Amino acid sequence: MDTPVADFVRRYHKAGSVRFHMPGHKGIPCLGCEGLDITEIAGADALFQAEGIIRESERNATVLFGFGRTLYSAGGASQCIKAMLYLTMLYQAERKKTSRYVLAARNTHVSFIQACGLLDLLPEWLYPGDEGIIEPGTVGDMLARMTEKPLAVYLVAPDYFGRSPDTRGIAAVCSRYDVPLLVDNAHGAYLKFLPESRHPVDLGAFMSADSAHKTLPVLTGGAYLQLSKRVPEEIAAAAKGALALFGSTSPSYLILQSLDLCNAYLAGGYREKLAGFVGEVENTKARLERMGWQVSPSDPLRIVVGTAQAGYTGAEVAARLRDEGIEPEFAGPSEIVLMTTPENTPEQLDRLCRVMAGLPRLAPRERPALSFPQNQRVMSPREAMLAPREIISAGAAAGQVSAMPVILCPPGVPVVVSGEFIDESCVALFGAYGIETVEVVACGGPGKPTFRA
Ligand SMILES: Cc1ncc(COP(=O)(O)O)c(C=O)c1O
Repeated sequence: MDTPVADFVRRYHKAGSVRFHMPGHKGIPCLGCEGLDITEIAGADALFQAEGIIRESERNATVLFGFGRTLYSAGGASQCIKAMLYLTMLYQAERKKTSRYVLAARNTHVSFIQACGLLDLLPEWLYPGDEGIIEPGTVGDMLARMTEKPLAVYLVAPDYFGRSPDTRGIAAVCSRYDVPLLVDNAHGAYLKFLPESRHPVDLGAFMSADSAHKTLPVLTGGAYLQLSKRVPEEIAAAAKGALALFGSTSPSYLILQSLDLCNAYLAGGYREKLAGFVGEVENTKARLERMGWQVSPSDPLRIVVGTAQAGYTGAEVAARLRDEGIEPEFAGPSEIVLMTTPENTPEQLDRLCRVMAGLPRLAPRERPALSFPQNQRVMSPREAMLAPREIISAGAAAGQVSAMPVILCPPGVPVVVSGEFIDESCVALFGAYGIETVEVVACGGPGKPTFRA
């Protein structure tokens, strides 16, 4: 597969032109990559008005994913999530459906809450069950109960721990109610390339936001906005403008080159490489289980190991791994999360197993349950985000209204989001997770509710 963006920049760098243009480093190395960091010079195209090499490269990505359209973002899935919601508002407005409600999974990333504030949307929450999963039946019940059908149903799949709901089942429910399904697929760009695709757009999502950088060899910030073939042409045509609304006018050419080069990587035997490596990860999970470690179900490239049963906190196990030169993605109170890709080697997986084998089993610890408080909303997220606010001690926040979301990140579980009433159970969670201060609406307590829904 050709790589027009990377080829152009390399040619330009090699030519040694005098750079009377941005960026300010002029290609003189400080980090080492400056030579390849350019701006929208002649021939370099422009991300948000792509008509040349970037359009060509995005077409390559569209062919690889096989959906309606794949668009690049240099601002992460965070930018794509906002653009996806905005585009859905345009889509629904065309159909004379103007609800401000989004039926959304509570285990949401902060970028969704930010989008609600920016676009004046009202989340109606879907709470995961005991297994941390949202069931199609729950979505169906909520949709049946909502007299005003929402703008969209919004899921996070997979989540930070690699758990996914039955996306296909939920998509079928959404289609019954004629409500588009949007998926935060930040952790699952690679799912398209499994022997049988598990990508949410293949499972029925209308659109998805995929971080390329989390699971593919792409620089941090590289992401895709995925439009299914069901997105009408006039909405797809608005997608560049939608991304521009939430991004910098100077998207990084380093990130764009890595997205461009990733196309060639994906076209060059990635499926086979991935299938082989998934087998290695499965073997690693089985080996850890045989040692007595509790391995949670997750997406194929992630290894989530419960540590409490063996008597450790996640942080204690992470410290032992670090001593042996292994850095996990996340260490929680009772688990560690390891994110792998085929860029890791079987030797590295073997090294992980050997360190884990060397940890003596201790008396089990209690596993603190992470519950999702069901708070009362007293203002819209937008009203709360734009209201006068004050920063106060988290311990003294009971009775106040949150101005900004407080999210345990990772794993991305909101304790309270903008516009919600903070009660004693929220304060207890702030304490348990070391949150010291919160931003609250000044004089916006329950005595002055401005809830408009
Ligand atoms: C579930 C989830 N959604 C969205 C994002 C945002 O992705 P990005 O960092 O690519 O903007 C993250 C980032 O960690 C995430 O974990």
